[in-house]
Order: sequence, then C-alpha cells, then structure tokens
Amino acid sequence: MKNRVLVAPSILSADFGKMNEEIARMEECGADMIHCDVMDGIFVPNITFGFKMISDIKKHTSLPLDVHLMIDKPERYVSRFIDAGADFLTFHVEATEKTIELLESIKKAGVKCGAVISPDTPTMALYECFPLCDIVLLMSVYPGFGGQKFIEKSLERMRELKQMREAAKSSALLEIDGGITEANAASVAAAGADVLVAGNTLFSSEEPRKIVEKFHSL
Ligand code: DX5
Ligand code: ZN
Repeated sequence: MKNRVLVAPSILSADFGKMNEEIARMEECGADMIHCDVMDGIFVPNITFGFKMISDIKKHTSLPLDVHLMIDKPERYVSRFIDAGADFLTFHVEATEKTIELLESIKKAGVKCGAVISPDTPTMALYECFPLCDIVLLMSVYPGFGGQKFIEKSLERMRELKQMREAAKSSALLEIDGGITEANAASVAAAGADVLVAGNTLFSSEEPRKIVEKFHSL
C-alpha cells in the first residue's frame, strides 16, 4: 500500500519578515517538513537566502528541513548546508558535473540526499544516480519563482520516475515541486508523488490546515 502523501510547505511564499510565525503556522496545520528554496541569482534569476537562514529556522522548528538548492556548482556549499541543519539536501543535476560524488558526500554526512531535474531535463538524467538518492525531486515549473502554473507533462514524467524507481529497486521518495493546487494534487499523487511541495497554495490560503489534511488523504 502507498504511504501517506507528505506535505512540504515552501517558505518561498511565506512573509520573510515573520518567518518563525509562518513556519509555526504550517507546523500546526500538520505539515511534514519545511521546504527551503535556496537561490543564487545565477542558476536561477532570483535570490533568496543561504545557510544562515537554514540554521536560524532549525532552532525554531522540530520539522525536518527539506533544502532545495538552486545554485550553480552546489559542490562549493553543500557542507555548509549540512552544518546548518538540512535534513534533506537536494541539488540540480543541471548545475553540476559532480552529481554522483555530491550525493555520496551528502549521504556520508548522514543527511538524506537527492537530485533534482528541471522541466526540460530528460528523466533519464536521473537514471544513474537513482540508486544513491533518498529523495528525487521533479520540478513541475521552471525553478526560480513561486506561484507559477503547473506544467502538465510533469504527470507523465512522474510516472516515468516511478518506473525508474521500481527498476532500480529503490525506496527513494518522489517529490514534486511547483504549481501544486487543490485541483491537481490528486492526479499528481496518483502519478506517483510521495511528497507534495506547495508554496502559494498553502501560504495564501485562509485555511491551510484543510488543504494539508486533503493532501494527506490522497
Ligand atoms: C520554485 C521553487 C518552489 C516554489 C513552489 O523554484 O522551487 O519550491 O516555491 O511554489 P508554488 O507552490 O507556489 O509553485
Ligand atoms: Zn523548491
């Protein structure tokens, strides 16, 4: 039987001026982990925050931190994010030539590791690293901004990843990120997603608890 779908609110859509309250609100609503989008203005055309934000957040929540690096050459900084308290640490295969080494070094540090692909990257790009990953993240929007529209072909791509996971006899979590709404969450979960990242949908809602509960029941 499929495990319960996990919900990871993306703090990119939170009010950065009251981050503690925003995270506490999501924790009270039953979120399973906090998704932290790190952007460098080079790999993506937006800048968010770095390791200091991660270590500061870590002091105020007991939820696992799911750190999604959208930075060029992540090998330069992964150890800093590990030290800062990342529980899951994912990076884009498009941003590095050291995917395998990097997954190994994150794993060795006792942190759950994962590779991410952007919408135009073939799912086959993950084939080789699948057996090493604790989590695999499929972008269902172009990385860089919250509140974008879900790219429909992501459903087919998620099904491909599910097959790849079976072939690799892997138990990696399949995570999806971008444009997840109450309207498409069921089809995304049916396609195989174990973890739904949601920014705008949760943070702009008056009743995020209901949405988290709905996602949990998928
Ligand atoms: C986009 C980020 C996402 C984003 C999702 O680059 O990786 O995590 O915050 O936001 P929504 O759910 O609003 O599309
Ligand atoms: Zn993200």
